[in-house]
Amino acid sequence: MADLAGLPATVGDALSVVRARLAAAGVPDAAVDARVLAQSAFGGDRALLLTRRTTAPPPDAWADLLAMSDRRARGEPVSRILGLREFWSLPFRITRDTLDPRPDTETVISVVLDRLGARQDPLTLVDLGTGTGCILLALLSELPEARGIGIDRSAGAASVARDNARALGLSGRSRFMVGDWVTAVSADSVDIVVSNPPYIPSGTIDGLQREVARYDPRAALDGGTDGLRAYRDLVPGAAKVLRPGGLAVFEVGADQADPVERLMKGAGFNNLQKRLDFSGIPRCVSGQKTVGLPED
Ligand SMILES: C[S@@+](CC[C@H](N)C(=O)[O-])C[C@H]1O[C@@H](n2cnc3c(N)ncnc32)[C@H](O)[C@@H]1O
Repeated sequence: MADLAGLPATVGDALSVVRARLAAAGVPDAAVDARVLAQSAFGGDRALLLTRRTTAPPPDAWADLLAMSDRRARGEPVSRILGLREFWSLPFRITRDTLDPRPDTETVISVVLDRLGARQDPLTLVDLGTGTGCILLALLSELPEARGIGIDRSAGAASVARDNARALGLSGRSRFMVGDWVTAVSADSVDIVVSNPPYIPSGTIDGLQREVARYDPRAALDGGTDGLRAYRDLVPGAAKVLRPGGLAVFEVGADQADPVERLMKGAGFNNLQKRLDFSGIPRCVSGQKTVGLPED
């Protein structure tokens, strides 16, 4: 509950108080986070906040801001406090059931679009481990003739993805299902498989930043002992459901591009490519299902 006895005289003072609280709690980028939370509490954008700097803060909004800053000081990311994350310049609702989408994952979108080039035919996409639906929905926003299915083992995540599709006006071309990877997808039926699976080695999760270790769902992070467990199912699964010549694009963790590339070669993918993320780390491995791949 907010301490209203300490109601600051102006919005500018309120912002300074919150900034100082976050900095004292060791929050990196305390000034940015304080501003974003203040925008949410007081309403409006950065410019409006500036114009209100000398006005008195409404007590309810100050109480909300204090409650949000307490959560941030305890390590909860701003995106989780607001329940919102921007990805590929689109707004996505996030909940405790979903991973908080990362900018690195935009590499998957770039790889798909670059490898498709000018193709605009009615492609079928499948996003395995869809979470908020961010990968599938970002791609559908760029490919107006395409349709897609997002699959997640978490019913909560599939429901959030459905809501995001509706909010973005993309529910007519997308479907979200609860399931285990490709189990419900027919063989040779899709043109593109994308996935950002859980890939953090189990033993390292507790040592990650508290923003990740405490707030992202463990099922979205845990890739088994060596981090590669999901790829051992996903790579042959993608080879099964793709049409010959179809494209698979997998996000990978640090040091995983080579082993995932080997798995893809072994499953009959060719034209393999690796793509670096903004930090110069190999972040995606992609390849095409060989035409005439023998049935197993
Ligand atoms: C790293 S998150 C990625 C979420 C989203 N695609 C993104 O990039 O933000 C991995 C997702 O895979 C889901 N998942 C884990 N195991 C799965 C399985 N066997 N079948 C389907 N989804 C699974 C998790 O629930 C989680 O939503």
